[in-house]
Amino acid sequence: MRVLVVGKGGREHAIVWKLLQSSLVKKIYCAPGNAGISEIAECVQLEPDQIRELAHFAQRNSIDITIVGGEEPLAAGIVNYFVERGLRIFGPTVEACKLEWSKVYAKEFMREFGIPTASYVVFDQVEEAVRFVETHPLPLVIKADGLTRGKGSLIASNLEEAKSAIAHLMIEKALGEAGQRIVIEQFLEGEEATFMAFVDGKNFLVMMPVKDYKRLLDDDLGPNTGGMGSVAPHIRIPKNGTNEVIEKVFSPLIDALQMKGIKYTGILYAGVIFTKTGIKVLEFNSRFGDPETQVILPLMKNDLMELVMLTLEGRLDEIEIEWNDKCAIGVVIASGGYPKRYKKGFPIQGLESVKLKENILLFHSGTAKQGNEIITDGGRVLTVVAVDTNFEKAFNNAYNACEKIKFEKAFYRNDIGQGFIETMTEE
Ligand code: GLY
Repeated sequence: MRVLVVGKGGREHAIVWKLLQSSLVKKIYCAPGNAGISEIAECVQLEPDQIRELAHFAQRNSIDITIVGGEEPLAAGIVNYFVERGLRIFGPTVEACKLEWSKVYAKEFMREFGIPTASYVVFDQVEEAVRFVETHPLPLVIKADGLTRGKGSLIASNLEEAKSAIAHLMIEKALGEAGQRIVIEQFLEGEEATFMAFVDGKNFLVMMPVKDYKRLLDDDLGPNTGGMGSVAPHIRIPKNGTNEVIEKVFSPLIDALQMKGIKYTGILYAGVIFTKTGIKVLEFNSRFGDPETQVILPLMKNDLMELVMLTLEGRLDEIEIEWNDKCAIGVVIASGGYPKRYKKGFPIQGLESVKLKENILLFHSGTAKQGNEIITDGGRVLTVVAVDTNFEKAFNNAYNACEKIKFEKAFYRNDIGQGFIETMTEE
């Protein structure tokens, strides 16, 4: 099969890397890809939002299947456009992925179908939102309705922070249209986890839980980011956690989608929190997570292409997902200034020596080639993934490798996976 992967991040690098192991796959293109992806696939100079051009490319190059990495082309209707032209594509339609591109819609959907989530109120007027935060106990979570690349969820611990979050989204319009409408919701405490599932419209297969480190700084301090690291399997959730997620989230959600006549095909991502009073959904995404994908795919025994095909054929009831008995820790190396403004174009040193290390995978996120050099080309630059037989070894290997990679203003969290070593020691 000839495959086109759409995207340019660490997630897409991991998807291409995993697809290469499939005997079903003969050729992989990636649009636009990055410096790391260009070493293992043919990169095509088309951006994910060039939907018409991507469809032309797929037609001209006899692509058997296109796999979409990120939410933006999905929300812009890439799947609808391809399907209308008889092109096979993996991902949900624009109607199905509304669960990601409108937080208000997702909350209303959960309320209607009894899927547990934090209590919330929706606002499109600044004054009403301010009045609400003045008269309700804090902390509160203030979320933009639209797509924000992980930057639209602000935790306000006091009134000043709450007012400034409302102003940031609704008056300064720092995240554009996405923040015109906001959701203010109850702040929840507990262990967070990412559950991603293959969904074929009626059947679903939930993958192992992953921990995503959303905050910028060690000890979960600083602002939210797209994700600064990830760990799989997430062993810090309650023992029955996966079953609870299947029963209370995925089953009712897939039933509800069918009832509404919405055919959901692709990956469905549920970000959940295990609170003292039970599980609650924090968010839905309509695609693989980044950096969750970088740690989950190296642990998966299945052929990814086979799972993709069975999803498209509505045959997920014929297969189970199998995992090797290792664990993986992924550390994101970012560029100074991220998640706000950062510069691009810094030469990266040390990549070759890390690539040769045993049990280390190096997934590029924001990188580009300039002559013979690899330079930074984004805020999140690389994900260093260590796969090992226990968390302590994976932790030490991941951070030894991170130390070898140098570029101006490089930084990373130092505690990705640390709590997992402690969990093991306690047991
Ligand atoms: N890591 C969070 C996300 O992919 O949205």
